[in-house]
Amino acid sequence: MNSKRISEFFNASSAPTSNESLAHLKDGTLISGYVGLDVKFYTHINCPSMLYTLEYLSSKHSSPYNIVETGCSSWGVSSTLLWDTFVSEFGGTVDSIDINMQNVEHARKAVSENTTIHCSDSVDFLLDYRKPIDLLYLDSFDCDFFRDNGSADHHLKEFKAVENLLKESSLILIDDTPINKHWLDNAMQRKDYDYLSETHVFYGKGNKIYSYLTQQTHSKLLLHTYQCLFEYYP
Ligand SMILES: C[S@@+](CC[C@H](N)C(=O)[O-])C[C@H]1O[C@@H](n2cnc3c(N)ncnc32)[C@H](O)[C@@H]1O
Repeated sequence: MNSKRISEFFNASSAPTSNESLAHLKDGTLISGYVGLDVKFYTHINCPSMLYTLEYLSSKHSSPYNIVETGCSSWGVSSTLLWDTFVSEFGGTVDSIDINMQNVEHARKAVSENTTIHCSDSVDFLLDYRKPIDLLYLDSFDCDFFRDNGSADHHLKEFKAVENLLKESSLILIDDTPINKHWLDNAMQRKDYDYLSETHVFYGKGNKIYSYLTQQTHSKLLLHTYQCLFEYYP
């Protein structure tokens, strides 16, 4: 698969458009985020990492691709639509799991027959899942970056439920796991962030999976911005 073709395909069609008011990379340099009333939320921040993920996936794996997502798109960055567009063009299927029926119905209207949206708790669903996974995208139970562990625990349970379905070099992309404070919304305005060190570790959705993968497997961290992307090796 030609990765340039993927990049061109998505830039030309369904990639979220870039909006320089949120944290983003400019010529490889991180620019902190600003979120005002004049700015639309979450239209772009993950665009580079998601496109990179699809390019990497297609360079390492062959079609048909099986993508599994927890937390479907409702009014967010449209991840489900992005995966659906990818498999519709390049071959494969998407299974997306969400606990909220309203969000499920909303997403179902937007996708092709290549994508199935399941209404369930993600961990319950994944414990019974049986298909080998090429890309696992984890983005369900929302997190409080400063105060709770619940989201990180939940995402670790999701991961553990399907770890045996990952192949060598399967990809794991986790949302809302910022590498530093500059990726957070309002990073430019929030003076209280000044007191956080540059290396402050946030709870984030992927916090516990990150520790598990780096300490107990041979997986490779491919990218870490607002999301983190791992290539799985047991
Ligand atoms: C951040 S949104 C997902 C956004 C989407 N991935 C996107 O990028 O557009 C999180 C979703 O996770 C769902 N969710 C929360 N807890 C869940 C659980 N235990 N199991 C499955 N889905 C859950 C919520 O209903 C919500 O739709």
